[in-house]
Amino acid sequence: MDSSSRYRFFRFSLYAHVLCYVITLCLIPLGHAASASSEVTPAKRVAVIGAGAAGSTTAYSLRKYADALQIPVNITVFERSSYVGGRSTTVNVLDNPANPVELGASIFVDINQHLVNASKELGLHVTSANYLRPRETEDTIGVWDGEQFAFVMKDSSSWWNIAKLIWKYGLAPIRTYRLMKFTVNKFLDLYDEPIFPFESLTLATEAAGLLNTTAVSGAFFLQKNSISSEFSREVIQASTRVNYGQNLPLIHGLETMVCMATDGAMSVEGGNWLIFDGMLNLSHADVRLNHTVTSIDWAPNGPSTLTFQTNTNNPSPEQLDFDEVVIAGPWQFADITITPPPKKTPDEIPFVKLHVTLFSSPHRISPKYFGLTDPDAHTPETILTTLPPGTDLGKSEAGVGPAGFWSISTLRTVPAPDPAEGKHYVYKIFSPERPTAKFMKSILGLETSASDSTTSIGDLPKRDVSWFHEKIWRPYPFVYPRVTFEDPLLAPHIWYTGGIESFISTMETSALMGRNVAALMSREWQAQKENENEEKAREGSSSSADDEMRVEL
Ligand SMILES: Cc1cc2nc3c(=O)[nH]c(=O)nc-3n(C[C@H](O)[C@H](O)[C@H](O)COP(=O)(O)OP(=O)(O)OC[C@H]3O[C@@H](n4cnc5c(N)ncnc54)[C@H](O)[C@@H]3O)c2cc1C
Ligand SMILES: *[C@@H]1O[C@H](CO)[C@@H](O)[C@H](O)[C@H]1NC(C)=O
Ligand SMILES: *[C@@H]1O[C@H](CO)[C@@H](O)[C@H](O)[C@H]1NC(C)=O
Ligand SMILES: *[C@@H]1O[C@H](CO)[C@@H](O)[C@H](O)[C@H]1NC(C)=O
Ligand SMILES: *[C@@H]1O[C@H](CO)[C@@H](O)[C@H](O)[C@H]1NC(C)=O
Ligand SMILES: *[C@@H]1O[C@H](CO)[C@@H](O)[C@H](O)[C@H]1NC(C)=O
Repeated sequence: MDSSSRYRFFRFSLYAHVLCYVITLCLIPLGHAASASSEVTPAKRVAVIGAGAAGSTTAYSLRKYADALQIPVNITVFERSSYVGGRSTTVNVLDNPANPVELGASIFVDINQHLVNASKELGLHVTSANYLRPRETEDTIGVWDGEQFAFVMKDSSSWWNIAKLIWKYGLAPIRTYRLMKFTVNKFLDLYDEPIFPFESLTLATEAAGLLNTTAVSGAFFLQKNSISSEFSREVIQASTRVNYGQNLPLIHGLETMVCMATDGAMSVEGGNWLIFDGMLNLSHADVRLNHTVTSIDWAPNGPSTLTFQTNTNNPSPEQLDFDEVVIAGPWQFADITITPPPKKTPDEIPFVKLHVTLFSSPHRISPKYFGLTDPDAHTPETILTTLPPGTDLGKSEAGVGPAGFWSISTLRTVPAPDPAEGKHYVYKIFSPERPTAKFMKSILGLETSASDSTTSIGDLPKRDVSWFHEKIWRPYPFVYPRVTFEDPLLAPHIWYTGGIESFISTMETSALMGRNVAALMSREWQAQKENENEEKAREGSSSSADDEMRVEL
């Protein structure tokens, strides 16, 4: 089969599926007369493991689907952390709850329907992503290659400040924009019928015509689409580095395009995790924080027994039975044993290691460190990085190069602890290693000494760093080119959302997979309910009309 006939076949089988449901649905009235209306259907017991974007969206969507089908459902969410949100979480600058800043996922964009729709439904306040930036300089974004600024963008709210970009890069920005739109539109086909819901992300990717973007590196994809290497290195790679800590020869073409889809960048005031907290509220799930699931024992006809424990000093394992279990986070970090082992457990894939350093300081980022000698110079508000021309680290996972960090952004200002000092700046550094005190002092324009290479931000005096928070994340996988993705069903009634992360790793795609799992699950319930109704109908009358119809199909 060539790819287009395979595509048609896939569409066809989906249509056939849908048709099947429509027909069985029409048979329901036959069953009604016979079914005893006094019977109470027991609620479907669903366990969701993980209260991040994927788990919260699973619970939220499942509640909606189940309510629409009038199927009672009891959802329990297990979360081993003490908070909702997973990799989407905030910390408070100067420990003041009035100053939350994102420690993990900070931005989503206007085409991210799951996040945008839920924010609206929940009445959350959404602001443009750079709303709180101090804007004390016209230079909003600079791309540093370790030797010089390869590119500086003046005040503008988007990458597509076309005139300036064209002056420097010719047609590359326009070509990139078109390619991004084209690719994103294909991606959006995953949201609706006939592709949605999908039992195989691999087939869905193929049906959407996206395999040729995930199969190749960003570098190859851009070159193939006639995007100049200069624009690729100076702008696009700066974006893949800040978003994923990866250079273009490593990261695949689809994730590269996602990095350029920045139109309408926004975040939720107070923290993006509020979306997931609100979704869990609407799902009426029993949310159990500080609960770690350790094993799942399943049988083909269910139920599955979950073993879990609370994070106390002397945890005693507890068990509960569930009809459906959803593992909503990367399998390799979940530490769960499944018995018997599924036919295929998700492969372990390399994940990025990222140091996030948040801090407040009275100092501005030193222009001198970045070789700006003009005494009035300001460093750009956001400093992204790329590799210098001629440096090709290939597919190396250690790709930071001479810049030594991925990004430094000025997030906002806050009132200084001592009101006499006015305001302090709040910065965020992304780096592959823990920043040394020497690096911190250098970028703040402070005198350094020999011992500073072995100390860190905590060793700087309060007058220079009034508050800080360090965190090491496993934020996203290395998104190598690939053509197959882990399925959302690991074993009967054991679901998995994490496969989508090697396709696109964002809050929105985790939410999409959460809704997908909820849709597949409720579709099964619906089919089951219809079967039961048919059986009752058959018991009630000797007619075999429905059997004949089946044969027709
Ligand atoms: C620094 C950083 C920056 C990022 N920037 C962005 C961005 O700007 N935009 C964007 O869209 N995305 C961004 N991301 C990626 C984004 O955070 C993730 O793709 C998304 O949040 C993943 O959601 P998830 O629900 O799939 O997984 P997670 O958020 O990881 O949730 C999984 C949850 O499962 C829990 N869990 C795991 N195992 C168990 C167990 N055995 N028992 C109980 N609970 C368990 C975990 O504690 C966790 O809370 C960023 C990530 C980081 C870290
Ligand atoms: C839902 O399931 C949980 C876990 O088994 C249980 O504690 C709770 O009582 C159930 N709730 C309802 C309303 O049945
Ligand atoms: C979870 O554990 C943390 C730290 O041990 C504790 O502060 C918090 O109150 C606990 N939360 C819940 C809901 O039990
Ligand atoms: C989001 O809302 C829009 C407008 O109501 C709707 O068309 C779209 O299907 C919704 N998307 C999702 C994923 O809920
Ligand atoms: C990828 O393949 C699809 C068809 O499957 C085609 O429409 C599209 O042009 C190709 N994309 C690129 C960027 O080559
Ligand atoms: C979810 O419910 C809790 C408890 O009622 C409430 O405090 C919280 O504000 C709600 N979250 C959102 C985002 O609405």
